[in-house]
Amino acid sequence: MSQDASGQISTVMQEERLFPPSTAFAKAAHIGSLEQYETLWKQAAEDSEGFWGKLAEEELHWFKPFTKILDWKAPLAQWFVDGKTNVSYNCLDVHLTSDRRDKTAILWEGEPGDKRSLSYAELHEQVCKFANVLREKGIGPGDVVSIYMPMVPELAIAMLACARVGAVHSVIFGGFSSEAIADRNNDASAKMQITADGGWRRGKELPLKATVDEALKKSPSVETCIVLRRTESAVEMKEGRDFWWDELMDSASTECPAAELDSEHPLFILYTSGSTGKPKGIKHTTAGYNLYTKVTSRWVFDLQEDDIYWCTADCGWITGHSYIVYGPLANGATIVMYEGAPNSPDEGRFWEIVERYGVTIFYTAPTAIRAFIKWGDDFVNRADLSSLRLLGTVGEGINPEAWMWYHRVIGGERCPIVDTWWQTETGGIMMSPLPGAIPTKPGSCTKPLPGISPEIVDEAGEAVEPGQGGWLVITRPWPGMLRGIWGDSKRYEEQYWSSVPGKYLCGDNARCDADGYYWIMGRIDDVLNVSGHRLSTIEIESALVSHPDVAEAAAVGRPDELKGEAIAVFVTLGNAEPDEATRNALKQHVRKEIGALAQPDDIHFTGSLPKTRSGKIMRRLLRDIASGKETVGDTSTLEDYSVLAKLRQDEES
Ligand code: WTA
Repeated sequence: MSQDASGQISTVMQEERLFPPSTAFAKAAHIGSLEQYETLWKQAAEDSEGFWGKLAEEELHWFKPFTKILDWKAPLAQWFVDGKTNVSYNCLDVHLTSDRRDKTAILWEGEPGDKRSLSYAELHEQVCKFANVLREKGIGPGDVVSIYMPMVPELAIAMLACARVGAVHSVIFGGFSSEAIADRNNDASAKMQITADGGWRRGKELPLKATVDEALKKSPSVETCIVLRRTESAVEMKEGRDFWWDELMDSASTECPAAELDSEHPLFILYTSGSTGKPKGIKHTTAGYNLYTKVTSRWVFDLQEDDIYWCTADCGWITGHSYIVYGPLANGATIVMYEGAPNSPDEGRFWEIVERYGVTIFYTAPTAIRAFIKWGDDFVNRADLSSLRLLGTVGEGINPEAWMWYHRVIGGERCPIVDTWWQTETGGIMMSPLPGAIPTKPGSCTKPLPGISPEIVDEAGEAVEPGQGGWLVITRPWPGMLRGIWGDSKRYEEQYWSSVPGKYLCGDNARCDADGYYWIMGRIDDVLNVSGHRLSTIEIESALVSHPDVAEAAAVGRPDELKGEAIAVFVTLGNAEPDEATRNALKQHVRKEIGALAQPDDIHFTGSLPKTRSGKIMRRLLRDIASGKETVGDTSTLEDYSVLAKLRQDEES
């Protein structure tokens, strides 16, 4: 272990395994060798504007061509200036003149088992009709439409219809409370709400409309509410404000030319939690986002014409926006969409779906993978997963042992795994293996995509020594980048562009190894400082998860007079007993795996960890518990409040 220079983070993890793509995979891939990737990356680095400008011309339909590729007045970027295009046109209309017209766009399955499929022509028709409904209800370019729906095709239809008329959608995940909806509606001055009577989750109905009714009492800007029938349960409809989706659609015309929108016309707002303070409305715009999600979908998922692509995210998150709806549809892909929980009616549901539709590409989150491991291989082995050819992860770092399980049990040791690092703010994937080109290392998101230039710096903004951890920044604008925080340009500048002037500070720590592979080390705020050594959360957690008795782990610091910070870990066990013997075994295990310095001081056993509604461990809350403090800051994104209460109770008993 090396002594730290200021602001640098030590690494204690050693991962030597390397998995090159098979010759067959590489041969058929869009980008099929390391040399090809490197050539592309160099081209983009040497002439970034030329690189993106050429792609924009080739990949998007332009009603009016752009006159300038990039106008960059840090931190404000305008891409493809003066051009006019439309994202819904680029996702739908462009496919109607080829065989893709009748190709399946969406294969949908509801939690109760109902199924639907829509071809590109059918999806186009539905989007046109709903776009006319929006127009008829007075929605036009720039108006904000708030969407709070279950994972049904109409959610994608609503998003695409907004894009078609130039309305700005703000999708709110169906698990949020009425308070959270009202806050977001007010922040964005939403004019319309779209929802459903309810949705299905683990056999129970989510009362979406009832939640919206509460929210709308506190959302004065919302004039109209459109309600889709999904569960058919009784809901209240407010005269003059609430309308049924199907009734409005009945009389809507199927003709709806796409609005010719400026490249920088806002496409959507998506609220993401700040660790403190109110949620931020991340703003994305039209052409740059459209291009970036389109090309990154093709590069990273190696989309081929006959792929059946399934991303298990919800459209309420950026992953659903970029890699269920906009990216895959722009490529004319067939996507699977599933409404419900992975363990309904039992823990084998996902694998049944993979078998039923012959899914070839499967993209999910590490939190889900850790749950699959805990549930046991029997549920997986019941299904035939031989259609799979590529696997992906997103949302958190993946512990190398969870990666190995994914590779072995789900991927049958034949599927490359793309560990994709990106954020709501980046719009699309920034670092990831290109599956036909870049050999993977478990736990590393490997290399930056073409056009992306990361750097690792210390707190003074200076590049750290090779191999050292530090702040991850992006040194150049890219087309998919956020264009600001809705209504708060000051916060945008302060949060992302002021710590290292002129460079984008993403808020994560990372290191780059001798092969140029990047390893994300966790959020900057989560770093532990033990006896002057700054340690990353993921490395300690990965050491714990590599023990056969551990299902999940979170590491945090708590104040310690001697060491500055002591290491407290929260552990969910598989089958082992939560006793002293296990505690000692785990301490010894970490000591052996990564060294004495990283040995946990406190081990707390818990049935579950507090997570955000999108499945990320909320270490900030655990830090308060470990140090015996009251919980401060925003807890509205916490998925299950009872987890927190339970943890506190355990501490007191
Ligand atoms: C984390 C999700 C490690 C990271 C697309 C980032 C990851 C935050 C990875 C963004 C990954 C996402 N490896 N960490 N492959 N992917 N993260 O906005 O901390 O929900 O900053 O976007 O998730 O989360 P968000």
